[in-house]
Amino acid sequence: MEKFNIAIDGPAGAGKSTIARLVAGALDFVYVDTGAMYRAVTWKINSAGLSPEQTSEMIALTERMNIRLVPGENGQMVYVDGEDVTGVIRTADITGNVSRVASIADIRRILTVKQKEMAASRGVVMDGRDIGTHVLPDAEVKIFLTASVQIRAERRYKEIRDSQPEITLERLERDIAERDRMDEQREAAPLMQAPDAVLLDTTELTVPEVVERILELCKSHVGGG
Ligand code: DC
Repeated sequence: MEKFNIAIDGPAGAGKSTIARLVAGALDFVYVDTGAMYRAVTWKINSAGLSPEQTSEMIALTERMNIRLVPGENGQMVYVDGEDVTGVIRTADITGNVSRVASIADIRRILTVKQKEMAASRGVVMDGRDIGTHVLPDAEVKIFLTASVQIRAERRYKEIRDSQPEITLERLERDIAERDRMDEQREAAPLMQAPDAVLLDTTELTVPEVVERILELCKSHVGGG
């Protein structure tokens, strides 16, 4: 199949990474999880012990750090300056700080350059919040995935209840609503549906149904329809 780029945006817990990974697998495209890049930067900033007001130090650190996304057997591996941070960037500590870091315009600018480079040779499925609007405005297929806050919290709850039993469904609902608010209201590249993106509400769709819908959209793109 001809190579093209697919942008998948949407709020936390809409199923973007699961769907994007499956679509990439079906098309033999490369999957790029940009949320993991913001998480990796947040981890580096926390590890360096920077306080929230040390913005210029944070930007300098982001400029210098090397982030690598590598396809692994159980999903995408994330390396920062050679160190495997795949697991640690998913902890509640990082999740609680990442929206603040992602609201810094200069950090977004640095990561956006890296993301554009990753997609330059096409054949990429990239998920995030601003892919269709800012990172890959020319992506051939754009999807905006959404679902109700309740269903997103329930999905996340099922994923983490064994590893993090102390986190309640109510807390997840509150955290997701708060993260939506921060991602939608920030000045720099807020979470927003691109005018030419197709809206897919996954509240009542299964994962295979969503993947199928996206693959159909890709076919009609390739077929010129
Ligand atoms: O998709 P995720 O939950 O791993 O994303 C982590 C955070 O990073 C999320 O709160 C918003 C931010 N983010 C962003 O601002 N822009 C992106 N392209 C991807 C993620």
